[in-house]
Amino acid sequence: MFGKIFLRGGKPIREKAIIDILFEDNIKKNSIPEIFDKKIQKKILERIKKTNFLSKEEEILELEGDNFENIVLIGGGKRDYFNLTKWQNLLTKAWERLKSKKVKNCSIFYKEELGKDYFEIGKKLAISFYLSNYHFDQYLGEEKRKELEKIEVVSFYVEDKKAKEKIQKGLDWGQLVSSGVCFARDLVNQPASHLHPETLVEEVFKIEKESKGKITVEVLDKDECQRLGMGAFLGVAQGSDREPKFIVLKYTNRQKKTNDEKVCFIGKSITFDSGGLSLKPSEMMEWMKVDMSGGATVLGVFKILSQMSNSEKLVYNEIYGILPACENMPSGKAMRPGDIVKAMNGKTIEVLNTDAEGRLTLADAMVYAERILKVNTIIDLATLTGACMVALGTKIAGLFGNDDRLVEKIKEISQKEGELVWELPLHKPYKKLLQSDIADIKNIGGGRYGGAITAALFLSDFVEKAKWVHLDIAGPAFNHEADDIMIKRGGTGFGVLTLIEFLEQKR
Ligand code: BES
Ligand code: MN
Ligand code: ZN
Repeated sequence: MFGKIFLRGGKPIREKAIIDILFEDNIKKNSIPEIFDKKIQKKILERIKKTNFLSKEEEILELEGDNFENIVLIGGGKRDYFNLTKWQNLLTKAWERLKSKKVKNCSIFYKEELGKDYFEIGKKLAISFYLSNYHFDQYLGEEKRKELEKIEVVSFYVEDKKAKEKIQKGLDWGQLVSSGVCFARDLVNQPASHLHPETLVEEVFKIEKESKGKITVEVLDKDECQRLGMGAFLGVAQGSDREPKFIVLKYTNRQKKTNDEKVCFIGKSITFDSGGLSLKPSEMMEWMKVDMSGGATVLGVFKILSQMSNSEKLVYNEIYGILPACENMPSGKAMRPGDIVKAMNGKTIEVLNTDAEGRLTLADAMVYAERILKVNTIIDLATLTGACMVALGTKIAGLFGNDDRLVEKIKEISQKEGELVWELPLHKPYKKLLQSDIADIKNIGGGRYGGAITAALFLSDFVEKAKWVHLDIAGPAFNHEADDIMIKRGGTGFGVLTLIEFLEQKR
């Protein structure tokens, strides 16, 4: 990751740029931050009057001070509604301003309105900074790479010694977490020409090595999957020349906890989804390297776990990750519409559309998680349905679950982390849409409606006793539009922040 954040004391004297936040209630009293000397304060006041700057949320005022080349004042809105999530977004706006002027370093400073949750302050600052600085530049030539705008140094001025210590801890944690998000982004952005199931296996072994014994990895090849009866997963894989890999990671907490809850994160890991014989139209296929985003997110989390020194923060003894990785391709060996496959739990599935492949791979993964790993909590992330994007757009993931407490927990955490989710119903009566005449279930719901729900209902058929949440991340896993707050075009690493936070919270 690029750039560095320094904690400093005192006041900035001479800096390239200063970022500060003003509030609506403040502006009326005309109280301008004390860090600026009288002369600059006067100048700022004049400008505020002249431009009618009201400090409304996200309003920006830029000027030059004598010893500061750039002063960026951002509206924080009303003080009472201000929080650290907003602060994070405002900072991101400010970084973008500075980058557009090719400013490479800047200063910000602690102010009362940020509150006293110092750890969170450090964490939010680091995440905003590092995620904004992210670029997938691996395939760019020297020239183009140089043009990328990045901020090199941020100085954060804080007086209080105790606060500083805690903020530093938050900064370190935020940096580590960001590295997990960027790792996931890199994997998603990697094209299918360069990322195959075997590539994921290589990455997983690197993580195992870095973890110094905390993480162990098991990779099941085609024959082993066959022996276990994973007919659904193998059916999807069979059209491709690339071998499927069923990847299982296990994190063991060295600080023994007194509960025996085991959690498993399952990430959809289709390294390319052509649709199979139910081939996708080309404009949909264009970006189907995205279809391993769920798996990338799970690896992002394990990347963080591998580097984490303070495992006492984690509430689980055992954390598992599963990536049922394969490629969905048409060929003479490919699964045909109408074929029947048998999942690991013995259920037969009539595959009417080979493009509804994610649910097939996840079905076997969920059965494996419960029957072999004996986990009691499952969270799966999958770029599962275009229908979910129709329902919620590209920024919000669909959430389904069978346990109210788990559902509420994930909703609460994702909101705080800025990874938006919205609960959709696991409406049982729709299950009849999945009835097959000749098998136990079919893999599509028939009509055009409620596709995200029927997909989730399909998955629910493969959950036995576990508490389970399913996140359909087809929308937010990839950003097609212009660079957004902290999110560049391309893979987003959606879910890493929420999952890692989930592992730290009391249930
Ligand atoms: N990977 C796609 C879903 C997807 C669509 C992800 C757009 C990201 C962006 C999934 O495998 C798929 O093809 N789903 C089908 C299901 C249908 C055949 C029932 C879909 O959504 O069209
Ligand atoms: Mn598909
Ligand atoms: Zn897919």
